[in-house]
Amino acid sequence: MKTITEQLQQVVSAAFESCGYDGALGTVSVSDRQDLCQFQCNGAFAGAKQYRKAPLVIAQEVAAVLQQNPIFEKAEVCRPGFLNLTLTDACFLEHIGAIASDEHLGIPQEGQGKTIVLDYGGPNLAKPLHIGHLRSAIIGEALKRLARACGYRVVSDVHLGDWGLQIGLVIAELSERYPQWPCFQEGFDPQRDEIPTLDADTLNEIYPFASKKSKEDEQFKAKAQRITAQLQSRDPAYIALWQAILKVSVADLKKNYSRLNVDFDLWYGESDSDGYIDELVGILRDKGLMYLSEGAMVVDVAQEDDKAPVPPVIIKKSDNSNIYATTDLATILQRQKDFAPDKIWYVVDKRQGLHFTQVFRCARRAQLVPDSTELQLLGIGTMNGSDGKPYKTRDGGVMRLSDLIDTVTQSALEKIEASPFVDGEHKEELAQRIGVAAIKFGDLINHWSRDYCFDMEKFLSFEGKTGTYLLYMVTRINSILRKAGLSQDAPVKIEAIYGQEERDLLFQILTTSEAFRHAIREKAPNYVCDNAYQLACAFSRFYNTSRIIDEADPQKRSTWLSLAILTRRLLLEHLDVLGIQAVESM
Ligand code: ARG
Repeated sequence: MKTITEQLQQVVSAAFESCGYDGALGTVSVSDRQDLCQFQCNGAFAGAKQYRKAPLVIAQEVAAVLQQNPIFEKAEVCRPGFLNLTLTDACFLEHIGAIASDEHLGIPQEGQGKTIVLDYGGPNLAKPLHIGHLRSAIIGEALKRLARACGYRVVSDVHLGDWGLQIGLVIAELSERYPQWPCFQEGFDPQRDEIPTLDADTLNEIYPFASKKSKEDEQFKAKAQRITAQLQSRDPAYIALWQAILKVSVADLKKNYSRLNVDFDLWYGESDSDGYIDELVGILRDKGLMYLSEGAMVVDVAQEDDKAPVPPVIIKKSDNSNIYATTDLATILQRQKDFAPDKIWYVVDKRQGLHFTQVFRCARRAQLVPDSTELQLLGIGTMNGSDGKPYKTRDGGVMRLSDLIDTVTQSALEKIEASPFVDGEHKEELAQRIGVAAIKFGDLINHWSRDYCFDMEKFLSFEGKTGTYLLYMVTRINSILRKAGLSQDAPVKIEAIYGQEERDLLFQILTTSEAFRHAIREKAPNYVCDNAYQLACAFSRFYNTSRIIDEADPQKRSTWLSLAILTRRLLLEHLDVLGIQAVESM
């Protein structure tokens, strides 16, 4: 279904054409002066340059044509050449009816037939999920859902960091603590010998320990590097141990992500690109792009207009091992083969910008993907504490994701403790949902590129732009429908508009599709957050002025209840796209 501005554009373009002007001038947008009109077209200004005429004259000619059209309540010219448009209520209601009966609730399906590979999460094996990975997970999940809501096929991949030095460090430390393990003995046989049971807590403790040690102890560091290289050349003992670590780690990660309502289609890791590295190296060599520099194989990616130096990307280190860029390039090959995607988006900390510039430029030079394939880093900002520095635990350490969720859930629990609407049994689960909604909305309301300050009190507030407020609005609608004895998905029939608050709410519903379109084009879920909030506020204003349940006029009452049902459906759609689970009552 076309959005309302797209539909109006057809009408206005035709009017421009019938006056002898270029139809492309008829672009329509939602008015930024709702007090004057609902929609506007500024095409007369561009037309003035093109046709060497006063914009006012062009606008007047076009307005005269539009005034003949019964869909407009008003088609006026405003100096020096704006076209201000307002629809009749009848036309308005017709569009609302179309939205209510559209399976996508009017959300434009512009992704039909197109595939996106979405790389987000990016946790590392054997390291606990910490809040540095929180934003990538939350934003990536919302983008996945947003793109799907707009008709794209999206393949989400967690792209585990499972192949680099961190794993060598963990294995090196295990080998010092447990030298007696069979995997550290000569003649280890993966068929015969067992790997001792590992648990997530041990692994999570070992990595920071080993990482610190490698900074102080050169010999240990060299050992870890040696093990990494041996693992990458598939030493059977290290592979067996690595698989055991992988299993434990992934189970732990899945548990944490599911608390956040985040999930992935693919649990691939850097290691899965291993089978594509020879091919990658072959391509780079055949195209004459790769050369030996100080013992390493590198590809130049600098461009003349670079403001800061972009060093060559290293494909093979002097010990023949692969690095982060190698696995990312090989993964592009893999994704091209598996999915031939139209777009590959990476939701990763913006401090990795240089890495991705190098990788994308190398991929383009080597033509690993067609020119038309979009490769884009969505470089995310950090979540800061009240001191403006990256959020830390009280003792200055890196906060674990699970601890953050626990803390927020606990606060949410204290808030709802007194609520008469929830029975004790469900309070825990409810608090968890409210807590996660608060964290996610508090994050998503900020554009992904911006840093923001984590403020639990604010995020959990029942007022203002918060996840809590949105959940609460849905529960209010639930309660209206309960009192009216109406099913939540009863058919929607809106027959008339009785007041301005209603018209405003309907307008918000009508322009929701514009918000989604804008959000997907900008790849920015924050516009969905904003629209959800506007919609909730518009409903609240309408509800405060209309006594729905007690309304005596049956037609009015049923229209109003329909409006509540439609608003609820739309709010739930927004929440779903944001990856936030609604609650029945609170
Ligand atoms: N594991 C990486 C890190 O923690 C993030 C991975 C991002 N994705 C990618 N394709 N490089 O820094």
